[in-house]
Amino acid sequence: MKKKLSLVLLFVSMATLFLTLSGCGEKGPNTAGSSRFTGLYENTIKPNCASCHVPSGEVYREGKVLLDFSTKSSAYNTLTSKLSVSPSAQYCEGIAYVTAGDPNSSYLAAILIESYSSVNFAGKVNCVPYNIHLMDQQLSEEEKSNIIAWINEGAAQ
Ligand code: HEC
Repeated sequence: MKKKLSLVLLFVSMATLFLTLSGCGEKGPNTAGSSRFTGLYENTIKPNCASCHVPSGEVYREGKVLLDFSTKSSAYNTLTSKLSVSPSAQYCEGIAYVTAGDPNSSYLAAILIESYSSVNFAGKVNCVPYNIHLMDQQLSEEEKSNIIAWINEGAAQ
């Protein structure tokens, strides 16, 4: 009888320990790697954009648009530190791809999301943002709102 009771107690304490440990795991250091940008890169940029926008890609080799989406960190650096070159939309040169907190002056938003694309974008007179990607990319509503949320939240890596 006594033995049975202690076995039950042992089981209960093991179960408690297990639940406590696994509960901790959820909030543990692993979540640091899964920022919004990680999701954006893995689900949207890597599958849809990296085929063209890498150093070995045609657009890059022609020396026009130097977007490098080959890795998550090159994508982050490109988007947050470079300015638009815009070979076809001639008045749109020199706009930041991403301005943290401000999608209305982030060229990335204008390129991909119709409601952000406007004449005189980001205060550039006569700039009509390159609009081919509004048609050929067709991102889902969820992908679009993720991009905007990422920018609004400060464009963290
Ligand atoms: C089929 C090839 C291709 C794919 C796929 C592609 N792009 Fe592009 N992208 C281009 C070309 C070509 C331009 C041309 C620019 C020009 O002539 O103005 C461009 C322009 C751009 C520009 C403007 C660059 C500048 O400095 O003016 C951005 C930003 C951009 N693309 C982002 C993306 C993103 C984000 C994706 C994925 C959602 C994507 N592209 C997918 C070919 C591609």
